[in-house]
Amino acid sequence: MKGVTVVDHPLVKHKLTLMRKKETSTKSFRQLLREIGVLLCYEVTRDLPLEDVTIETPLQPMAAPLLAGKKLVFAPVLRSGMGMLDGMLELVPAARVAHVGLYRDPATLQCVEYYFKAPADMAERTVVVIDPMLATGNTAIAAVDRLQEAGARDIRMACLLASPEGLSKFHGHHAGVHVWTAAVDERLNDHGYILPGLGDAGDRMYGTR
Ligand code: URA
Repeated sequence: MKGVTVVDHPLVKHKLTLMRKKETSTKSFRQLLREIGVLLCYEVTRDLPLEDVTIETPLQPMAAPLLAGKKLVFAPVLRSGMGMLDGMLELVPAARVAHVGLYRDPATLQCVEYYFKAPADMAERTVVVIDPMLATGNTAIAAVDRLQEAGARDIRMACLLASPEGLSKFHGHHAGVHVWTAAVDERLNDHGYILPGLGDAGDRMYGTR
């Protein structure tokens, strides 16, 4: 699928299956989401540019690669995006964080913004939007719209599960934003939930059901 990378590493598949199981505890669900955050981050950052700098090893000088440019920005969509953030920050501890507070109106399935805070120099940074469930696509579209309004130009999207309908709607609005996901499921139900999916990611993470 164009514009989509399915991260189908065996560890990701294994952890995702555990997350889908309805009897998986809140504690385990949160832990697994954090771990998948680490693994997805590894793939999302695979093509980041490097530049050689001169360093000295204990034996001799050498030109060695470091990440080029400004620090990354991770942009978790509240609240479930927070579940993958810590795992990603473990791999890229110097990254900046932009919080995007959006909720989905259950009647209209449209997004309402309630919080937004991002670094000032978004135009100079690569931004990774973190939204575990790309379901209708409305939240992901609104998050990218809002980050672009804040100046972001180089944006990529990390999620855990996506629906075919959501991906096609998302790329209808943001064709240039590549999506990394652990799986693309079958379809959406009438309430905008992914099937077979894993239920409500926020509720399962925080035990709020
Ligand atoms: N949000 C969720 O948490 N789960 C879904 O299946 C869809 C949206």
